[in-house]
Amino acid sequence: MGQDSVVQTASTAMGLARAELESHWIPFTDNKSFKDDPRLVVKGEGVYLWNQHGDKLLDGASGLFTTAAGHCRPEITEAVAAQLAQLDYIPSFLRSHPRSFELANKLVPLLPADMNHVFFCNSGSEAVDSAMKIALQYHASRGEGGRNVFVSRDRAYHGVNIGGTSLSGLMKNRQGFNAMVPGVVHMRSTFDPEQRYSMGQPLLRGVELADDLLRIVQTHGAKSIAACFIEPIAGSTGVLVPPVGYLERIRELCDEHEILMVMDEVLTGFGRTGAAFASDAFGVVPDIMTMAKALTNGAQPMGAVAVQDEIYETVVNAHPRDVVELAHGYTYSAHPAACAAAVATLDIFEKDKLFDRAAEMSAYFLESVFSLQNLGVVTDVRGYGMLAGFDVASVGAPGARGNLLQKRLFDAGLHIKTTGDAGLLAPALIVEKEQIDEMVEILKQELIRL
Ligand SMILES: Cc1ncc(COP(=O)(O)O)c(C=O)c1O
Repeated sequence: MGQDSVVQTASTAMGLARAELESHWIPFTDNKSFKDDPRLVVKGEGVYLWNQHGDKLLDGASGLFTTAAGHCRPEITEAVAAQLAQLDYIPSFLRSHPRSFELANKLVPLLPADMNHVFFCNSGSEAVDSAMKIALQYHASRGEGGRNVFVSRDRAYHGVNIGGTSLSGLMKNRQGFNAMVPGVVHMRSTFDPEQRYSMGQPLLRGVELADDLLRIVQTHGAKSIAACFIEPIAGSTGVLVPPVGYLERIRELCDEHEILMVMDEVLTGFGRTGAAFASDAFGVVPDIMTMAKALTNGAQPMGAVAVQDEIYETVVNAHPRDVVELAHGYTYSAHPAACAAAVATLDIFEKDKLFDRAAEMSAYFLESVFSLQNLGVVTDVRGYGMLAGFDVASVGAPGARGNLLQKRLFDAGLHIKTTGDAGLLAPALIVEKEQIDEMVEILKQELIRL
């Protein structure tokens, strides 16, 4: 889109009267203040966005950790358009289409060994709830139907469906919703005030924190526990990098007690850690992996659950031929347009070697972000790969300062994600050093002003 058409689109958006903003109930937003002072985006290209006034912004969060290859990649746009022109829709129940198999076959080589089966859905939240149901079905199929407790963690974010909300370790995401899945038990988060300002993995207390799972086994009995859900890096709640030895100890305890280890890689997947998945980066292989977001570069909604062969085979072989094995799926599971977007995205990742690029750029990115640690308002900085988080000292209600910061940053030309008083940074994996400098400079100015 040229500058003229940006301005034209911008003026159309500008033309929205206050009353015309009312009918869209915007998610995870304070609707009243947003609608009084809307921040609309009308165009994206590479690592940049344009707002409704035609101002250019740097995208410091890859949209919402989605747009790893940069905005509006023509390869993806063209693949989606061609797919929609040829086959716009077919259900995946008792039918499918070739693109879904093409995608699964492209995805499997990126996954850990023996993780050769992929179930498709439409979001990270659906991937998490699907993983919960697959875990229950797996245990039932092997005669352990009594395993129905799920283990999660404080400060976990596993999406917003009923399953994921039950796993959530965020009070704000739980309060107000009473109809929760029973039998979810939480371990502590890995946030450790004594290891603030750790770049990469904190060095201490990995095994000690992971042994919370042992305590839960001892209280509830291993035979009651279906699965332990872990974000390898707790992303949305502030980028909590696991301490050394933590994931390994969780893996060991899961093996010992036949608990499925589910890694929720919705945010960390597809190069964010400098490897295909955080599982590779940390060298710990889960039984089940959830993913979404960068799978389609954010261009189409899609989520996926990958499982180890043993899980797929146990569930499938527990049923006779001609009987549906997993009574679960969505109208839009493996939607043709989403599959086309994902295939084109995976091709870009491979062709442009974006996972390697992320690994190479990581040191520069992290060092730049860690330069913020000397500002008085900043109380912690954390990061791994191309993902970083920082905390600002709370003033007033928790989260008020974070909210103010994200508004001011947007107005100053930088889009980031904030959660409470934490800021999260995850630029596209195509980002250049000068753009990282630009991002950190805007941050510095606004943090000083806060
Ligand atoms: C680890 C994790 N799981 C699940 C989700 C939910 O994904 P979605 O918003 O696509 O439903 C997110 C979203 O940020 C996430 O970070």
